[in-house]
Amino acid sequence: MKLIICPNAAATRQIAARVISRQIRSKPDTVLGLATGRTMEAIYRLLVLDHREKGLDFSGVTTFNLDEYVGLPGTHDQSYRYYMQTHLFGQVNIQSGLTHVPDGVADDPEAEAAAYDKAIAAAGGIDLQLLGLGENGHIGFNEPLSPLSSRTRPVTLDRATLKQNAGMFGGDYSLVPARTITMGTGTILEARELLLVVTGAAKSDILARVVEGPVSSFVPGSAIQFHQNCFMVIDEDAAAGLTQREMIDWQMKNDPELIALLAPVRN
Ligand code: GLP
Repeated sequence: MKLIICPNAAATRQIAARVISRQIRSKPDTVLGLATGRTMEAIYRLLVLDHREKGLDFSGVTTFNLDEYVGLPGTHDQSYRYYMQTHLFGQVNIQSGLTHVPDGVADDPEAEAAAYDKAIAAAGGIDLQLLGLGENGHIGFNEPLSPLSSRTRPVTLDRATLKQNAGMFGGDYSLVPARTITMGTGTILEARELLLVVTGAAKSDILARVVEGPVSSFVPGSAIQFHQNCFMVIDEDAAAGLTQREMIDWQMKNDPELIALLAPVRN
């Protein structure tokens, strides 16, 4: 795991967008795993800007989103398909046939989930998986007690998650669909590289548990400790609960990969 602690949320987004654009430029037919949520909106804005101003080319890119609400069609303005269309897909030259989001209105959600894992494998696996972190430690919608080896499947959301996401449903958590289809934690761990982006003081306690462990299905995000190639980009507010700060700062100052990623932000 490599950690980058940025002075503020804006710098985390710049670095995250840089990691993604670097991936697309170095492998134009890359397979990206994408995430939703407020944290990601500004990252997608930066990628759209990169496309418009510097020609970042999405034409060969394949994407797989982490999750979708069961019961919401892609035309629903709170579905994650709609979110992706609004924030990224509709604004860049991606081929819509190469974008994948679980189908929230599939007749058989179990079968849809199993087919999703097969489609990821058929695409050659995910090169770079973007991840956010829920305040309860979820990645995707893998809620506490999700098996660390879980595959893509329908899950029932924790009440904490319904409350966290209520803002998008007019503030009323009873309006947030309680069932979703999510990429499994085990599926996520198969991506060749992970990029976890976390900002804000509200996530500092859970982030410390994700990073410093122990690995536990109570904190599904802690599973990233198993991954061989995981970058975490976080801001100072989110980093406040980490106890090993001196060691992390040392690595940021001495690891060539981290120095290269941080350089333009420092200037
Ligand atoms: C939703 C998504 C998660 C995401 C989380 C964080 O629950 N399913 O993948 O990590 O939101 O959201 P935010 O960035 O808004 O805090």
